[in-house]
Amino acid sequence: MSITYIDHIDLKGKRVFIRVDFNVPLSDDKKVSDDTRIKAALPTINYAIEKEAKIILASHLGRPKGKIVNDMSLKPVADHLSSLLNKKVNFVPDTIGEMVQNEISSLKEKDVILLENLRFYPGEEKNDPEFSKQLASLCDIYINDAFGAVHRAHASTVGMVRYVKEKGAGFLIKKELKYLGEALSNPKRPFVAMLGGAKVSDKIGVIENLLTKVDKLLIGGGMAYTFLKAQGVEIGNSLLETDKVGLAKNLLKEANQNGIEVLLPEDHLIAKKVDAKAETKAISNKEIPSGWMGVDIGEKTIEKFSFIIKEAKTVFWNGPMGIFEIEAFSRGTMMIAKALAESNAISIVGGGDSVAAINKAKVAQKITHISTGGGASLEFLEGKKLPGIAILEE
Ligand code: 3PG
Repeated sequence: MSITYIDHIDLKGKRVFIRVDFNVPLSDDKKVSDDTRIKAALPTINYAIEKEAKIILASHLGRPKGKIVNDMSLKPVADHLSSLLNKKVNFVPDTIGEMVQNEISSLKEKDVILLENLRFYPGEEKNDPEFSKQLASLCDIYINDAFGAVHRAHASTVGMVRYVKEKGAGFLIKKELKYLGEALSNPKRPFVAMLGGAKVSDKIGVIENLLTKVDKLLIGGGMAYTFLKAQGVEIGNSLLETDKVGLAKNLLKEANQNGIEVLLPEDHLIAKKVDAKAETKAISNKEIPSGWMGVDIGEKTIEKFSFIIKEAKTVFWNGPMGIFEIEAFSRGTMMIAKALAESNAISIVGGGDSVAAINKAKVAQKITHISTGGGASLEFLEGKKLPGIAILEE
């Protein structure tokens, strides 16, 4: 069955439970320091307000492991949301039970409340049936708009859904599934995937699945050195996953058999160590001398990758090209972000670090779709069934 979206459900006067992903970073003085995920849920929340629902928002924040951790309270998020909506969002300092029930029974149409962190209860991550039933008893309609959490089979993403009469998804999930889904099933070609980040081991599933879909695969960042090693290139002291060299060799062979071009860095910025003050050198070939490590892609690689991005019709990007958190090692990642912004391709960016890079390069407005899901978007691109989506399709 296909998913019913919120605009096909009659919300008026109903208690609507919206599972959102408000797992956002908080500063030391407990202010929301990046509200991308909150803003991404606004279309669904505003729609529910417009349709005169009684709105119950619920989310997790961090990994409190079933205990109350004051630093992980969602209270600051309720305050931030109030200012974004220009409307009071009442924060309820619990998630289930009598106090929450009372609060909900006094809700009027268009009211919005935010419950406390779902993960303060162990039943959330255990997908406990009792906890699920208690959550379900709070509402008439269940809406999931927490794309970032759909790869988790938890009480609020899966368990409670069976106990609620009506279920559906919000506009954020709709948008995520549209862009990520089309990239996999019917991409405009050439379809280029660009993967980076520290480890090959985090991306094996994605690479394997993309090797059956893309026209070109560009690899940068720390994981590139394991691939270069697999080609017999000298990589000095660069990051290496020794136990993944064989796998990298096989992936390169498979790509070759499928007629997919895999491009690795041709030159590098190298440093003596991972330190902003370390001695650095730009080298114009692949081989990295011993005692040095690759910390960013070099100029030739930037130029080549940028050209491919600009010629592409669809580009998916996950993972930085170097250690971009250090200014001196950030040029490759920043230039690639800019090339993506200048390309006419459908550009899709997923994963916390690449999203941070896009924001750092100030090009977010020029990207077609920035996924709010790190783990979720990767699992989707691996071709895995996501439990929070599967339950909505039942
Ligand atoms: C995320 O930040 O990717 C989501 O909110 C999921 O969080 P989790 O990895 O703690 O389940």
